[in-house]
Amino acid sequence: MFATFWIGFAWVFRMLQNAILGYYDLIIVTALITNGAYVYQRIKNYWKASQSNVNRHENGALHGKHVIITGGSSGIGKCFAMEVARRGANITIVGRDNERLKLAYDEIIQHCKNRKDQKIECLSLDVTRSAIAVATSFADHEARLGQCYMLVNCAGNAVCGKIEDTAEMTLKHMLDVNLVGSYNCVKAIVPGMKTAKEGKIILVGSQASLLGIYGYSAYCASKFAVRGLAESLSMELKPYNVSVTLALPPDTDTPGFAVEQESKPLETKLISESASLVQPEVVAQQMYEDAMAEKFFSIVGVESFILTTLCSGMSPYSSLYELLLQAQFMGPLKLISAFYRYHFDNIINRCAKERESQKKVE
Ligand SMILES: *[C@@H]1O[C@H](CO)[C@@H](O)[C@H](O)[C@H]1NC(C)=O
Ligand SMILES: *[C@@H]1O[C@H](CO)[C@@H](O)[C@H](O)[C@H]1NC(C)=O
Repeated sequence: MFATFWIGFAWVFRMLQNAILGYYDLIIVTALITNGAYVYQRIKNYWKASQSNVNRHENGALHGKHVIITGGSSGIGKCFAMEVARRGANITIVGRDNERLKLAYDEIIQHCKNRKDQKIECLSLDVTRSAIAVATSFADHEARLGQCYMLVNCAGNAVCGKIEDTAEMTLKHMLDVNLVGSYNCVKAIVPGMKTAKEGKIILVGSQASLLGIYGYSAYCASKFAVRGLAESLSMELKPYNVSVTLALPPDTDTPGFAVEQESKPLETKLISESASLVQPEVVAQQMYEDAMAEKFFSIVGVESFILTTLCSGMSPYSSLYELLLQAQFMGPLKLISAFYRYHFDNIINRCAKERESQKKVE
């Protein structure tokens, strides 16, 4: 009896040991392959750089190309316009408010590489209205500034609130601006890009495209949708040499963010306090670089890196290195994410208790 127990125990122990060793072997093998892929990537980049003058190529890449930017009159969109103005692009900034467009125009024109040759135009348009109206207006600007080479969808709207405090109209408006607007714009320029066999599309999601957060039910729903749109488009347009980039900026210091801040419940504030505020210039520059490198995700900061690696799922990867890195870290990061969830749940419980006790006092 006793012997059987020990044999059984030894057997289970052996199984566990094998499983653990097997897992370690797997980690070591993927780590080796990842490192190998990394070294290969570096060598390839170095070789490419030595073959052609990368800087010259980079500077010339946008010369005379037409870039359309929605939400171009403020925040990330305006910074993006300055970024491409410095590289010699012809630009259409799209916004709803004529006054703000004019102000942004005056700022952007200061950054032109060659003020005489470059054309910058404002387009006052509500992109959520109708796909046909967007297509007609874009075609009009393309006739003057050239075929659209890059479309950047920065128009966005963020309002927070618990579901019972959020009006149906608020949800509908956010879906319209964040999803339908981008959809209409992409629909308008895709036929031209497909014919030209080149093009770059940037959709702007958020960290809230990857995880649901307290007080963001409507906003997250609209931003999750943007991720779905980006992934599908990426697959659809790849054969036509048109790349899709999904930018996932963290909280960014923009006028939109200031408005969002006003509507934030206490819980949401406490949860998002753990992340830092980044400048729109930084996000815009990163978006530009990632779109030119045809990366699917465009992210800023370590937190975003961790989050996109954890949530990469079936998303496109831009290199073997990235694929292996994600494959290697997704599992361990899932364990780490449990601590974050625990921390967030704690905050929410604490706030709920405080509310309860306040009610009793009243
Ligand atoms: C776009 O800008 C370039 C200068 O950067 C200019 O030479 C070119 O004519 C413009 N394209 C169109 C179609 O107007
Ligand atoms: C694909 O697009 C890039 C620019 O975005 C261009 O340089 C390249 O020539 C295009 N490739 C083909 C096969 O058309």
